[in-house]
Amino acid sequence: MSKKTENQEPDTTGHEWDGIKEYDNPMPRWWLWTFYATIIWGVAYTIAYPAWPLIKEATPGLLGYSTRAEVAEEIQRFEEMNAPLDQKLVATELATVPDDAELHSYAVNGGAAVFRTWCAQCHGSGAAGAKGYPNLLDDAWLWGGSLEEIEYTVAHGIRNEQDPDARWSQMPAFGEILEEQQISEVVHYVRQMSGQEHDADLAAAGETVYLDNCAACHMEDGTGDTFQGAPNLTDAIWLYGGDVETLTETVAYSRFGVMPPWNERLTEAEIDQVTLYVHQLGGGE
Ligand code: HEC
Ligand code: HEC
Repeated sequence: MSKKTENQEPDTTGHEWDGIKEYDNPMPRWWLWTFYATIIWGVAYTIAYPAWPLIKEATPGLLGYSTRAEVAEEIQRFEEMNAPLDQKLVATELATVPDDAELHSYAVNGGAAVFRTWCAQCHGSGAAGAKGYPNLLDDAWLWGGSLEEIEYTVAHGIRNEQDPDARWSQMPAFGEILEEQQISEVVHYVRQMSGQEHDADLAAAGETVYLDNCAACHMEDGTGDTFQGAPNLTDAIWLYGGDVETLTETVAYSRFGVMPPWNERLTEAEIDQVTLYVHQLGGGE
């Protein structure tokens, strides 16, 4: 111990362990004031801001601040900012939007966000689709790839119960109409039409079955009909699959692809946006 401290030996608390005594030094002043300041800050904060958890929600605080309200305000600010562009978009003939570079780029960006939120779970985040959910990147269209056709599909959906104007068609389940042998024949005929390996005898017999039962929807040459959403069977682009097993299943049981309508859930501007987005993905007509 240095001489100096020895001379000014402070009081002790009276505690002593093995000859070691505890000095009774006061807390440094700066520390004490900081400590009081934090207490005051803490109390003031819980009065001003949402803080104490109650059964249903926390105490709201005198300032009425909430992060949710802040987000809502932020969203509204963006909506107000975009409102003139949305109005312009709705007022513009869809087909002429691509001529207006600024409007088109605004719409496509907005459409990409709409797509990620509402469409990606079925059509895939890159719009490449999956079994039963069409690829929107290629130029094979079930219901048509023009801007108006895409917009109609998106607004009303396909084979859903919610929208009376939904696109509608139904391929019969041929398992109840045709013999197993005839189904096998027509499946090989479809394999032949799509340029795949097939049994020539079965396919030859299948042509008659096809013309009698399938041509009304898929057309005599197999190229399909977008009025009925009947896929092209010659392009080897499959919604469900082109192997013998999948084709047999499709023909025997048929399919019934359903897409919900979006005109209730999305605004007109959002439908325009996502339509323009899908149209420019590669396959737009
Ligand atoms: C619940 C799943 C589901 C969601 C969500 C969904 N779709 Fe679809 N969509 C389908 C199915 C299934 C089909 C094909 C139906 C058929 O067989 O005709 C389809 C077909 C389409 C088609 C027609 C493609 C063609 O070849 O003609 C377009 C365009 C389309 N969807 C766009 C969208 C957009 C844009 C969204 C988001 C706003 C969306 N879909 C959300 C299931 C969905
Ligand atoms: C009433 C119209 C109609 C008739 C008749 C019809 N189809 Fe279809 N077909 C469709 C529709 C619509 C689809 C779309 C699938 C869906 O419903 O989701 C389809 C889908 C298919 C597919 C799936 C294609 C793919 O990309 O995966 C095959 C294969 C097919 N049809 C073959 C046939 C054959 C073979 C016949 C005759 C035995 C036939 N269809 C008769 C309307 C029809």
